[in-house]
Parts: sequence; C-alpha cells; structure tokens
Amino acid sequence: MSTATADIYRPGLEGIIACETAISSVEGRQGAGGLEYRGYPIEELAESATYLETAHLLLHGHLPTQAELDAFEDRIRAARAVPEPLIELLRNVPRHVHPMDTLRTSVSVLAHYDPDLAASPTDHAANVRKAERLIGQMATAIAYRERIERGLPLLAPRDDLDHAANFLYMVNGEVPSETKRKAFDVSLVLYAEHELNASTFAARVTVSTLSDLHSGIVSAIGTLKGPLHGGANEEAWKVLEQVGDPDKAHAWITAALGRKERIMGFGHRVYKTGDPRARILKRYCQQIAHEAGEDRWERIAEPIEREVTAQKHLPPNVDWPSARLYHYLGLQIHIYTPIFAMARVAGWAAHVIEQLDHNRLMRPRARYIGQPSRDVEPIEARG
Ligand code: CMC
Repeated sequence: MSTATADIYRPGLEGIIACETAISSVEGRQGAGGLEYRGYPIEELAESATYLETAHLLLHGHLPTQAELDAFEDRIRAARAVPEPLIELLRNVPRHVHPMDTLRTSVSVLAHYDPDLAASPTDHAANVRKAERLIGQMATAIAYRERIERGLPLLAPRDDLDHAANFLYMVNGEVPSETKRKAFDVSLVLYAEHELNASTFAARVTVSTLSDLHSGIVSAIGTLKGPLHGGANEEAWKVLEQVGDPDKAHAWITAALGRKERIMGFGHRVYKTGDPRARILKRYCQQIAHEAGEDRWERIAEPIEREVTAQKHLPPNVDWPSARLYHYLGLQIHIYTPIFAMARVAGWAAHVIEQLDHNRLMRPRARYIGQPSRDVEPIEARG
C-alpha cells in the first residue's frame, strides 16, 4: 500500500472525532453531558435568548449587544424579501413535492441571485453575509410554499414581528399569542445547532472541497430530510396519531417493537440518558396544551414515553415534543422538517464558515471487502 490505512473502523463513524469545532459541544459542563452553544448551556439560551440572538452567537461568536442585535435583525428583515423568480418557481413546483425538496431547490435558486455569488468560497465576511440572508430567505421560502400549497394568498413579511412570530404569521395569517411565539422561538433555538450531526457533517464535507456555502447548505438539507435525522419530527406525529388513545400505548408500542420497528422521536446516537432539548420543549407543549384546555396529545404522549423507556430504555429526543408543539401551532406535518432546517441553517452556516476558515479536505478511507485482485477477461470469455 502506498498510503497508510488507519485500522480504526466504526460503522456510522460512531465516536470518531472528524474535526475540531468551537461552535457547540454535547459534553456539557465538566463533561457531565448536555448541550452548549459556544459555552452557553442550551437551557439558559432557551430561557433568555431569542432565536436571532442565538443565530448571532453561532455566526459571530458572541451574544449580541442591543445595538448589534438591532443591526442583525435589520439585516435579517431585509433578507425576508426573496427574488421574484423564486416565488414563480414555488408557484410552479408540483403540489405533490415534499416541502423539504422544494426548500432544497429554493436554496439552490437563492444562490444564483446572491449578491456575493462571485465571492471566493473562503471569503469569511461574504460567507457571513450569505448565511444571514439565508436565515431570512429560507423562512420566507417555506412560508410562501406552504401558502401556495394551501391555495392561500401570499402574505408579505411584517417588520414589526420578530423571526418566530413573523414566520407563524406568514404561514397561518394570524399573529400568534405570546405563549405560542415564545414556544416556537424556543424550538428554533433548540434546533439551531447540534455539533457534528449528519447534516452538519454533510455540509462540512461539501465545502471541504472548497465548494461554496450554498452548496454546503443544499447538501445539509438533503441529509436532514431522512427519517433517522430531521424527518423524525414528521414521523413522530404519525406515531401519536396511530396510537390515538392513551390506553392503546402499551399494545401499540409492544407490537411495533415486536416487529423490530423504530419508534420515531426516540433514541439518539449521542444522548443515551436523555436529550436535554426534549425536556425543555416538553414543558412548552404542556403549557400550550394546558392554556388551550386540550391536553389529548399530551395524555397520549405520556404513556408512549413510559412504554418506550421501559421496554427499550430509549428516552425521547427533540423531535418527539416538537411534533406536538408544531401541531398546537396550527402547522401542517409536512413543514415540520423544513422548520428544523430554517432553524439549523444558523448552525450549518457557522460550521461551513469554520470549515472554510481552517480547511482540510475531508477524505476518509473505506475498508475494502470485495473480490480479491483479478485480471479483466476479454468480453467473449465472460459469462
Ligand atoms: N425505536 C426502536 N428501537 C431503536 C430506536 C427507536 N427509536 N433507536 C434505536 N433503536 C434500537 C435499534 O433497533 C438497535 O436495536 P438492536 O441492537 O436490537 O438491533 C439499537 O437500538 C441500536 O440502534 P442504532 O441505530 O445502532 O443506534 P443509534 O444510537 O445509532 O441510533 C438513531 C440513533 C437516532 C438513528 C436511532 O435512535 C433512531 O433510529 N431513532 C428514531 C429516529 C429519530 O427519532 N431520529 C431523530 C434523532 S434526534 C434529532 C435529529 O437529529 O433529528
């Protein structure tokens, strides 16, 4: 062999350190477990910072001062107006296309119209500008597509509303209550970043070839779509619907596990004793359900959690409560994963920028398990 081959082989790269990052950690304080963005515990950010403050932290490395936040919010607001050709495209995409596919295409189209299109992929300042634009643009693209899908007129973004409230308004046509705005905003904070998950890894691999930021985000969206990753929040809602009654949870879960099926919204590659994001979001679900006087789904979710934990020792992950939350907010199932993407774009972009600032091509090795070396036979001798 002319090249050294590491002997370490871990299916799914489990436990492998593939890069260094200063963006987030799943180790928690003193390695006690827990999620931190740039050293801040997720619990404190969810309580005290908005999604845009969090996005500023991820992209710029620090929580903003009021003046910095005002300027950041102005830039995001300006980016909510998407180019007309994208709106035309959103009108013409066939109705049956999943919104994640439309979102992936939308980001490709947005790349064509980005004012920094010609910038070098390693231009840090241009990459931050691209990332900030995408935060505003992706929310609009998802909301517009949803309105088109529902056969409703498009609603212009409202400058008097924050990121979370504006999105809910642009989809539902109603300004949400403060409880709902806060709950949705917290879900965006919790979804904003998560170390080297599959979609972030895909984004980093893409730009490690010195490809551009939009290409990295397109790779990430395609990766997030799968049900083992972001697609799980849509699947988690289907579990709730199929169980349909708290008294049926035991039998349903026992039967599904008996068929070796995965219960979507449970389990995690890293968090083996519980996903801190799920604990936070569950409280908001309970609060909204309580205020609405409609706790049916909370009552169904509870015994499912107990059964999956008892029978399989798997705690819920963030996608489990987010499915209920988005239902309470009047959102259709098929935009649950796009919402995950519109939040995670801040984390993806931060990783893309970090990768390009300190780039080394990602090119791992594979262990060959195919045929031994052999000679090519002439075609008439094959058979
Ligand atoms: N339901 C039933 N069994 C499960 C589940 C589940 N949700 N998750 C893992 N297992 C079982 C799996 O079948 C296997 O069993 P056995 O050893 O008997 O074959 C064992 O646990 C190990 O599975 P694994 O896939 O090697 O474990 P992992 O730690 O790599 O799994 C996971 C991580 C997220 C892929 C997995 O837990 C899963 O498929 N969960 C359901 C999908 C989901 O909720 N994804 C969202 C993840 S968190 C947020 C996000 O990234 O979107």
